[in-house]
Amino acid sequence: MLRSVMSGHTRTEASGQPETEPQKPPFRVLFVCLGNICRSPAAEILFQHAVQKAGLEHSFRADSCGTASYHIGSRPDSRMLAALKRAGYAYGGHRARQFCRADFANFDLIIPQDKSNQQDILSLARTPEEAARVQPMCRWFPPTSDLQEVPDPYYGGESGFDFVVELLAVSTRRLLRELAE
Ligand code: 4NP
Repeated sequence: MLRSVMSGHTRTEASGQPETEPQKPPFRVLFVCLGNICRSPAAEILFQHAVQKAGLEHSFRADSCGTASYHIGSRPDSRMLAALKRAGYAYGGHRARQFCRADFANFDLIIPQDKSNQQDILSLARTPEEAARVQPMCRWFPPTSDLQEVPDPYYGGESGFDFVVELLAVSTRRLLRELAE
């Protein structure tokens, strides 16, 4: 349902019956954090993993970026790659890039990891439609979580990275489940 609301992917004929769409374009999801070296590349990798596991590669595309320019061109933080590896996930070769205005046109759903990322992206939105594409990651946190954003592990220890991987693994699976409905 969310997927059709965000992109208009589900169309209905005058008869009220869903139209057959043989060439439906993939639904494009963009994960955003500050530096694009910890949380958002992890979310991208974990979402892609869930998509592959569900055999839905033809239906979804994912990317990630940061609101800041500090790490443009960098690989994900080695501590995040180690946490992903410990949890059984492989690095897909992402290089950090910065969010840009074109991302509003290039993605159906833009998912900031924390409130600061969300404010930064929304400050660049020019229409209500662009703003509506921005939905916080916490929307898909498990109901048992009382967090409202993905904690930034950058200045902490190993356990913070493990926690973020666990939180994002569950949340990206919940996201995919909703999008695939
Ligand atoms: P991320 O984490 O936004 O999850 O990639 C950070 C990466 C770098 C910095 C802060 C947070 N930094 O200050 O350089």
